[in-house]
Amino acid sequence: MSETQRKSEWSNSEFRKYCVEGEKRAFELDNRGPIQFTSEGLLDPDILDAYERSGFYVFEKVIGEVELQECRSEVDELLQRAPWPHRESEVDRHGRTALGPEFAINPWIMTKPLSDPLGGTPVNNGRHPVKMFEPEPPANSPVHVPYLVAGCLQLLPSFLRIFGHPDILRVAEAINGADFTPFTEVLFVKEPEIGPSVSWHQDGQIHWNHPQWDENIHGYNVQVQLYGSTSANGVWVIPGTHREGKVDIAARVSANDDSDWFDDAVPLICEPGDAFITNRQTVHGSFPNTSKDRRVTVNFGFHRYSSVIGQTGKLSGDGNLYTEDYVRQRCRCIPLAIDARSQRFPHEERYVYQPFAGLEEQHRYSPETIRDILTDYNLRDLGI
Ligand SMILES: [Fe+2]
Repeated sequence: MSETQRKSEWSNSEFRKYCVEGEKRAFELDNRGPIQFTSEGLLDPDILDAYERSGFYVFEKVIGEVELQECRSEVDELLQRAPWPHRESEVDRHGRTALGPEFAINPWIMTKPLSDPLGGTPVNNGRHPVKMFEPEPPANSPVHVPYLVAGCLQLLPSFLRIFGHPDILRVAEAINGADFTPFTEVLFVKEPEIGPSVSWHQDGQIHWNHPQWDENIHGYNVQVQLYGSTSANGVWVIPGTHREGKVDIAARVSANDDSDWFDDAVPLICEPGDAFITNRQTVHGSFPNTSKDRRVTVNFGFHRYSSVIGQTGKLSGDGNLYTEDYVRQRCRCIPLAIDARSQRFPHEERYVYQPFAGLEEQHRYSPETIRDILTDYNLRDLGI
């Protein structure tokens, strides 16, 4: 398909039609509903089955309105402090010094509106092989917009509390075992009519040829939606690809008449407060947000301990050796998040994270523990 044909497809109702068809397929998969546990406290086996089958599951109504509002206002305040109007700027849109230089890792990952910053480039070990279509942004757009914000546990107390949610952590235990570890914690930001795309890719990096490779070896992501997510602004996945090993995405695109609109892909449709989990081995991506709807996603993930220990990091925590001490230090954010949540929602039953059971006192959420555990904590990300 020529670029001109694709542009005309984009500007007419073809994309809308593709979205509607994708939504229909998504709702036929039978992999959405509230987080539910058996009377023994185990994750409902039907949920696990559906997750294993599709590679993703949409948990409905995980975060309530009060908590969503707290997080939305913290995020709005944070985004006001991004460099503006381009990523090299030292000031924000109000002329104040932009947030960033005080952190070991720059929190702002910014690119041109509606662009695909990664597709077809060697960035991130070339894991995004195909460039998505890049529509022309509106005339008054800033040069660069933030699409990812890194190190969010130290930037947003409300993010830390969501990360400590007991049901979300019980799901992590069910999928990755009681000694599960974190991965990285970021915001995905897709503002209306300017939000960039994320080209089709699989997240997993290091275990594709592992002798004990299986579908869960690269962990999974949790994406909590502050405003919901639609077929136009949300993540799409190709169900079942987490079981296929390393997928040749470029070959799939060529076999699809050079189009990045796959007929077997489905969008992750969410209401505000829903949270989906996606296996990091699924083929997934998102289109540029040409819609009028905002998407802001609280994104984190979990790994099996056995998948990270002794490995050398890729992408997040790049080049770091994941020793026992390194992993344990990184995991301290979990008991801290549990305590932060418990202080805010004292009537909620708190999750007990086994690797730190009995050490709750040392992980009380306080100015000292925030400083000791969270300052530049993402230097120790667990990227695999
Ligand atoms: Fe991804």
